[in-house]
Amino acid sequence: MVPIPSYYEFQNPVKVIAGKVAVDNVAYELDQLGAKRPLVITDKGVVAAGLLQVVVDGFAGSEVAIGAIFEDTPPDSSNHVVNAVAKMFREAGCDSIVAVGGGSVLDTAKAVNILAAEGGDDLLQYMGAEILKKPLKPFIAIPTTAGTGSEVTLAAIIANPDKNIKMAFTSARLYPNVAILDPRMTLTMPPKITAATGMDALTHAVEAYSCKQKNPLSDAYATAAIAMIRDYLPRAVADGSDKDARFAMANASLLAGVSFSNAMVGVVHSLAHAVGGVCHVPHGVGNAIFLPIGMEYNMDVVADIYAELLLPLAGPDVYLATPPERRAQKSVDTIKALNRELNRLSGLPLTLKDAGVPKGKLEDCAKAAINDGSHTFNPKELEYNDALSLIRKAYE
Ligand SMILES: NC(=O)c1ccc[n+]([C@@H]2O[C@H](COP(=O)([O-])OP(=O)(O)OC[C@H]3O[C@@H](n4cnc5c(N)ncnc54)[C@H](O)[C@@H]3O)[C@@H](O)[C@H]2O)c1
Ligand SMILES: [Fe+2]
Repeated sequence: MVPIPSYYEFQNPVKVIAGKVAVDNVAYELDQLGAKRPLVITDKGVVAAGLLQVVVDGFAGSEVAIGAIFEDTPPDSSNHVVNAVAKMFREAGCDSIVAVGGGSVLDTAKAVNILAAEGGDDLLQYMGAEILKKPLKPFIAIPTTAGTGSEVTLAAIIANPDKNIKMAFTSARLYPNVAILDPRMTLTMPPKITAATGMDALTHAVEAYSCKQKNPLSDAYATAAIAMIRDYLPRAVADGSDKDARFAMANASLLAGVSFSNAMVGVVHSLAHAVGGVCHVPHGVGNAIFLPIGMEYNMDVVADIYAELLLPLAGPDVYLATPPERRAQKSVDTIKALNRELNRLSGLPLTLKDAGVPKGKLEDCAKAAINDGSHTFNPKELEYNDALSLIRKAYE
């Protein structure tokens, strides 16, 4: 019997445009939103891959003209970067935002939008959940990685380098107006980033399906995402030019994004945010390492839920061949095997040590994990000693 919560909320207000040459609609969509002068936000890697040009070409022949371009978003960008880009938005007289990049770019753009709409020049004033009062500027998200799902989520994660933490901004106002998925935009992603970002998407789906706020709608998105990731992530990592696999992963990432934007995530994200904030481990790498470890931690509380996940994770043959009482552990083992395959294909790190975390930083990471809000929705409480033992387990 599938339990249904006695109360839940669900929303996905983002218009999705997906398919070959979908980016060519960008100017039309801005026009529909009443915008005439967008600020385009991107990063150097995206520009070097020739992807900014694809978007610029999308404005040819349109009355909508790019007002300014910011191409220096750093990975895990910070409140300082956001403050500077918001200033650029105002000085260039822009009225809307187009974000072209991975989660770092999309989240920077969301945070810039907070300052563009609310005014002020210090993002820290707006940290927290549902404190934004004014409608945001028209905003189009064009993801170039397939992982964060930020194009359909209500969250922006921004680093605070002065405190070595990652800050979460969540508000229903932060949803982009339009998300554009175009297979051309992810073809150039290198194998290791493809693997890491794909594991971020898988972590969103698994945590959304097993956390306290799960509900029938977020579950449907999560299981659809997991099955696509099972079939297409190794293919996209093995052969980056496989357009079908790239487009499937873009869809899977979006599905997982809708799922966790409503259900939320859990301990795996708190641990990944911690090693990201303290030691700059890329978000997807942290999630890949902690996903099986976090599942084993939660196992005594949600084994039945993990057992159900074996079907999308491993497919019907494996599900039917596995006795019911062994399905939950088999789900964890399937994810460990996927990590090993991605390691073989792309060098995705399997331990914190391989990801460059110094042994002397483990306690700092555990402190940061406890202070991170993601584990609020985890099915099981997480205390400092638990976090430290999970981090030690992940070390080597
Ligand atoms: N808002 C959310 O809901 C949410 C969810 C998960 C993660 N995040 C945040 O997203 C950030 C991580 O984003 P990410 O994993 O997408 O990585 P990223 O945006 O940091 O990009 C990683 C690298 O890949 C390069 N790159 C991106 N697309 C490329 C392409 N198509 N071809 C070649 N190179 C490309 C970039 O230039 C960059 O150097 C973290 O800060 C994380 O906390 C946000
Ligand atoms: Fe994530």
